[in-house]
Amino acid sequence: MSDTLPLRIAVLGAGNVGGTLGRRWAGLGHHVVFGVRRPDAGASSVKGGDALPATARVASPADAVRNADVVLLATPWAAVQSALADAGAEHGALDGCVLIDATNPIGPGLSLLTGADGASGSEQVQTLAPKARVVKAFNTTGYDNMREPSYAGAASVMFYAGDDAAAKAVVERLVRELGFEAVDAGPLVRARQLENLALLWISLAFGGLGRDIAFRLMRR
Ligand SMILES: NC(=O)c1ccc[n+]([C@@H]2O[C@H](COP(=O)([O-])OP(=O)(O)OC[C@H]3O[C@@H](n4cnc5c(N)ncnc54)[C@H](OP(=O)(O)O)[C@@H]3O)[C@@H](O)[C@H]2O)c1
Repeated sequence: MSDTLPLRIAVLGAGNVGGTLGRRWAGLGHHVVFGVRRPDAGASSVKGGDALPATARVASPADAVRNADVVLLATPWAAVQSALADAGAEHGALDGCVLIDATNPIGPGLSLLTGADGASGSEQVQTLAPKARVVKAFNTTGYDNMREPSYAGAASVMFYAGDDAAAKAVVERLVRELGFEAVDAGPLVRARQLENLALLWISLAFGGLGRDIAFRLMRR
């Protein structure tokens, strides 16, 4: 996949995270289709503004993922299974695509709803879309930081994890283009740590520090 040509990106879950990321990628020239449950409602189904950028549109989930290079999954955890089903995952609609999983499987009391043997949400997503190239990303910080990743000129960090090197290269590009420092956290099993890191961000933000906080990686 070229490192300069616009990507065809489908967004499943056009709320705080999906709306923010999709709008920003479209603003950078990527072709973004928001797969929403009420496409007739137009731009109002996408959080973050009244109008959509010129290279963005809304469609049904199944239409949105057709021919997509990249699919962003950004629904509440409880809706993941149905969102993937609506997109046609069971019938191979996501086979081969880069599936970015931004979700966090959060249960009561900030617990993680792990699968068998402690499987992360992303590993569970991989089971639901077995031939998609799943990469965990965009789950460890608030959506406000996805709109503006820099603090006083310093980029905050975005970790990503996955098993497919070419898929991770695409995600690295999409992370970097937004203004984050993109850091490869390893194979998809590292999503277990990234989902715990998300819990830390949430507990700090809602424990008194507020949403204007972000992690940064320091190097010597
Ligand atoms: N909020 C954050 O700062 C943040 C940061 C990192 C990761 N996350 C994770 O990202 C995910 C989304 O969070 P959010 O804050 O963006 O949620 P949100 O603002 O509540 O948006 C969720 C979106 O998902 C859509 N949706 C719900 N069920 C669906 C279905 N079955 N099929 C298709 N779309 C469906 C909703 O559409 P309708 O309008 O039709 O209901 C809505 O647009 C969660 O897993 C969360 O843990 C959140």
